[in-house]
Amino acid sequence: MQLRSKHLIGIEPLTRDEIQLILDTADSFKEVSTREIKKVPTLRGKTIVTLFYEASTRTRTSFELAAKRLSADTVSISTTASSVQKGETLIDTVRNIESMAADCFIVRHSCSGAPLLLTRACRASIVNAGDGSHEHPTQALLDAMTIRERKGQIEGLRVAIIGDIRHSRVARSNIHLLTKMGAEVRVAGPGTLLPTGIGKLGATVTTDADEAITGADVVMMLRIQQERMDRSFFPSLREFAKLYGLNRERMKRASPDAIVMHPGPINRGVEIDHDLADFERSVILDQTANGVAVRMAVLYLISQAAAGAAGGAGTPTGGAH
Ligand code: CP
Repeated sequence: MQLRSKHLIGIEPLTRDEIQLILDTADSFKEVSTREIKKVPTLRGKTIVTLFYEASTRTRTSFELAAKRLSADTVSISTTASSVQKGETLIDTVRNIESMAADCFIVRHSCSGAPLLLTRACRASIVNAGDGSHEHPTQALLDAMTIRERKGQIEGLRVAIIGDIRHSRVARSNIHLLTKMGAEVRVAGPGTLLPTGIGKLGATVTTDADEAITGADVVMMLRIQQERMDRSFFPSLREFAKLYGLNRERMKRASPDAIVMHPGPINRGVEIDHDLADFERSVILDQTANGVAVRMAVLYLISQAAAGAAGGAGTPTGGAH
């Protein structure tokens, strides 16, 4: 089986089988990062470019490591040190780099829809590394990989997603993925941070964090995205932490073996207490580690889709053709 598209713009267009394929492929790639020589020749000769118009630690680093572990050549464009500063447009930037025979662009942008726009303007594969408040597909995939590792399956699980839902591309991608895979998803946050229509994606919606957490198998906390707020959405961080922050007392409402997740970066003491971020059932660093395997899987599978029927992308952990 192959992915139908050589681009990854969101979870919404993916089928359940495609999600399963990416997760199974990621499972097979995970072992590569434990080898003494952490490299396979799968994408030798391919050129992968990361182009981030917003800050990133985890996503950018893990995409670069994933590409390098697949033996691709990598180029990292920093928008603060590029001709973007001189007014060059997104499309012109990508077309110019593409003319140097780039095969794939990993793009993060503050505008929802920017990666989709690029799929119509250039020939290379485009992978969305987070666009505005739209989607962050590889984050949802690495979250799903982590949940599968810890819980065995996604189907039938109760997942609570709590915090700034309004500005969260992570919430949207996770709602799409988890509901497709048969989980029950509950989202909770202050009314001002619950966007209109979020319930139509298939999650139940509440302003009561305790209600969302009660009986949950997975508690996923989200960061308050102050950089995207043009006004005040709640009276104070202190009040937000009291009503929505995860602490030991609130966590007692969850299932006794519930895991705690957070996509990072964490605002300790705001959406999650210090000790909950580091406690025994926190899988936050597993999420980060799994980001490399998931991104290896995505880069491999979209390269395979681009190669199409010619099937030139080789086998996942073995040699390239
Ligand atoms: N989770 C996530 O996207 O983290 P970064 O912003 O550090 O990439």
